[in-house]
Amino acid sequence: MTDAPVFDDLLVEDREFPPDPVFAAQANVRDPAIYARARANPVAFWEEQARELEWFAPWSRAFEWTPPHCRWFLGGKINITHNCLDRHLAGPRRNKAALIWEGEPGGVRTMTYLQLHREVCKFANVLRSLGVVRGDRVAIYLPMVPEAAVAMLACARIGAIHSVVFGGFSAESLSDRINDSECKVVITADGGWRRGTIVPLKSETDKALESCPSVNHVIVVKRSPGEPFPCQIREGRDHWYHRLMEGPAARAKCPAEPMDAEDVLYILYTSGTTGKPKGIVHTTGGYAVSVHATTKWVFDIKEDDIYWCSADVGWVTGHSYVVYGPLMCGATVLMYEGAPNHPGNDRFWQIIDDHRVTIFYTAPTAIRAFMKWGHQHPAKHDLSSLRLLGTVGEPINPEAWMWYHEHIGRGRCPIVDTWWQTETGAIMISGLPGLTTMKPGHAGVPIPGIEATVLDEQGNEVKEGSGLLAITHPWPSMLRTIWGDDERFVKTYLSKWDAKTYFPGDGAKRDDRGNFMILGRVDDVLNVAGHRIGTMEVESALVDHELVAEAAVVGRRHDIKGQAIVAFVTLKGRAKMTDSLRDDLKQHVATKIGAIARPEDIIFTADLPKTRSGKIMRRLLRDIAEGRALGDTTTLADASVVEALRESYEEKYGG
Ligand code: PRX
Repeated sequence: MTDAPVFDDLLVEDREFPPDPVFAAQANVRDPAIYARARANPVAFWEEQARELEWFAPWSRAFEWTPPHCRWFLGGKINITHNCLDRHLAGPRRNKAALIWEGEPGGVRTMTYLQLHREVCKFANVLRSLGVVRGDRVAIYLPMVPEAAVAMLACARIGAIHSVVFGGFSAESLSDRINDSECKVVITADGGWRRGTIVPLKSETDKALESCPSVNHVIVVKRSPGEPFPCQIREGRDHWYHRLMEGPAARAKCPAEPMDAEDVLYILYTSGTTGKPKGIVHTTGGYAVSVHATTKWVFDIKEDDIYWCSADVGWVTGHSYVVYGPLMCGATVLMYEGAPNHPGNDRFWQIIDDHRVTIFYTAPTAIRAFMKWGHQHPAKHDLSSLRLLGTVGEPINPEAWMWYHEHIGRGRCPIVDTWWQTETGAIMISGLPGLTTMKPGHAGVPIPGIEATVLDEQGNEVKEGSGLLAITHPWPSMLRTIWGDDERFVKTYLSKWDAKTYFPGDGAKRDDRGNFMILGRVDDVLNVAGHRIGTMEVESALVDHELVAEAAVVGRRHDIKGQAIVAFVTLKGRAKMTDSLRDDLKQHVATKIGAIARPEDIIFTADLPKTRSGKIMRRLLRDIAEGRALGDTTTLADASVVEALRESYEEKYGG
């Protein structure tokens, strides 16, 4: 942490929404005693949850903890795809829709459990035919198409480790991720639709692969029937997905590999405070147990639900609550390829209306955009099928919560505000819709089996009021390490207070009833439109530009995105501070990392405010970017720097 966190915790929220008795009477979790039962013996409680899944061999020990490493269900053999697919084939679920997919330009594809199982088995055999074996890493760089789920499941089927990279990331971000875990195969597409244009994923992949020696094969999904989108196919290395799936290797029989509970299921990269993104490692058994239980409890999944989580599979939400969780529960998952405002601002409501969606899970940034576009858009549609709403990814401000409640839930639907992270694998703090009295802006209490608290810097418990969020006992879907970097794993998560207390990097406030309100990151990680971006990553991208000498990046509040990126930049030598250079630098960051990291504002400055020991004072930069009164500047080496900076910022952006 660089300097003191700034919390906006003055808000007092009095509105309360107790569970509707009709909803509560049918809820999957009805008995509040579950909390006490879990607290009395968390390990036995998780074992009970684990028994709801099918294991090829039982575990011999449920839990082992030699800090920093925890292990769950030791000796147990399981395959998550057996639980997502095979076990639903014995009864009538076989012919139930597993996936209903809608493309951005229209077009709907539906796959039943039986069909999805067959597709996954065939593709798993295809991967094997290209030399992929248990433990190999496979990169998945796809749009939101059914093949993204098929690819993930096919890897898991044969014990290959998938590393999904969000399709909005640049070639360079893709190659960094491929190289960090030495992927052998990349699965991509000729393109995908986003806001009426084609995202050229294969071309980006080609650029990335110029510096990825580990990759032997590229599998290319053709997004649409007919002619492919323009892209190059390199003989020998590149293969069309549809051809492989018609070929002799694509046999429909592929028994699920019995995996050890602690075998790695996937790696997913996320931003941290320093250096390159971290490859978060999740293993198989514990992850499956936490994700299955939370999907059932928090989303109250039932046999005839149509469940829609609008996250992309490139993020952890897409892993746990688009693919693995709902499929383990045997639900029908709706997947949508594109933007929420294409062709019109009511696209999401149209989808809910057309497919009779019953459960809808999205991010506060999307809700704030919907608010801005106006409630006339949802008002045009029949949203009466909805029965439960959820949010994730960032703190939800009470106005957005109320808007969601009124205009989407029409006052009828409970809202679950779910706090968790890439690292936690599954939801950690959230109301349970049949039990919890919801309070706008409050995530609620830790879910059964999770032990969380609020601590001060020294590690003293803060019973009521604000401090730092801490998790005091390992949970089944806890990240096991950072790929190839155990030391960084310990340093980042398990050394803030002691080796046994997990530090998620968030501030939190607890009310008199133990409800948690998450206050946002306390480290140098930004949350832009629900996406985690490390300030260091953006700074490195800027400094990579030939004219940039130094850069400091901070977040400023943004009505829709939550936070926007502001970069303070000093230039080399005689470089001119022009608007066109400003645009170049924004584009440079977008090219290096991806459009999601493009700075909103770039402020040129002759100098950055530094302490006498040379440390950049970000707190002051945040004050400037937010137009706040400047805090203490007496520790600065040169106090005139900030005044000059503030003036130029106000001139350019109106403060
Ligand atoms: O700051 C918290 C915020 O998102 C961070 C995790 O980001 P990521 O790993 O990308 O995963 C996002 C989806 C799980 C957290 O450290 N965050 C997530 N959910 C909430 C939240 N902040 C407030 N309220 C939430 N419900």
